Amino acid sequence: PRSIYLSRHGESMYNVDGKIGGDSDLSERGWEYARALPDLVKKNIGDLPLEVWTSTLQRTIQTGSFLPFEKKTWKSLDELDAGVCDGMTYEEIEAMYPEDYEARDDDKFNYRYRGGESYRDVVVRLEPVIMELERQENILIIAHQAILRCLYAYFLALPQEELPYIKANPQIPLHTLIKITPMAYGCHEERYPLPI
Ligand code: F6P
Repeated sequence: PRSIYLSRHGESMYNVDGKIGGDSDLSERGWEYARALPDLVKKNIGDLPLEVWTSTLQRTIQTGSFLPFEKKTWKSLDELDAGVCDGMTYEEIEAMYPEDYEARDDDKFNYRYRGGESYRDVVVRLEPVIMELERQENILIIAHQAILRCLYAYFLALPQEELPYIKANPQIPLHTLIKITPMAYGCHEERYPLPI
């Protein structure tokens, strides 16, 4: 059966600073993951012809930059838009927009950032990507935390309310290649972490 491969981008400068959103470059550790990714793919996926899909944001493009495969960028794979909170830390958001912070806590799936998006919005905009994914063989998607939670929940048929909380120690982890193989009932999953 065919599989879908997922990875978050390598650690970004904003990840280091605890800031959300933005379009920052990879950190040194992030670049290390990017450089190690071709070998991780070769070891675990083999020599299959693979297409790599990234978002239009630098951290995903940079993460895929050493992979010797055809690449496609999708605007619909860009991270959940945090609107006015883009570039802030969670502490700053809590201090500046306490009601929003609480509202998000109450209903993370439906909460829409001021001038930005909710998880529900992201699920909708990912539909064309999922349609195309269903038609293709062997795709590696390099994207973002919220985006990968939505894709992951789709393939594992997880309920929407659980989706924004997908933990998988402690989130969709950085520096890990996830292999999902849809089966008749459910999905088989493997994870290949890199200790970076
Ligand atoms: O912190 C990294 C990040 O990708 C942010 O850009 C994004 O807003 C966040 O994760 C999504 O996670 P959560 O929905 O848990 O805040």
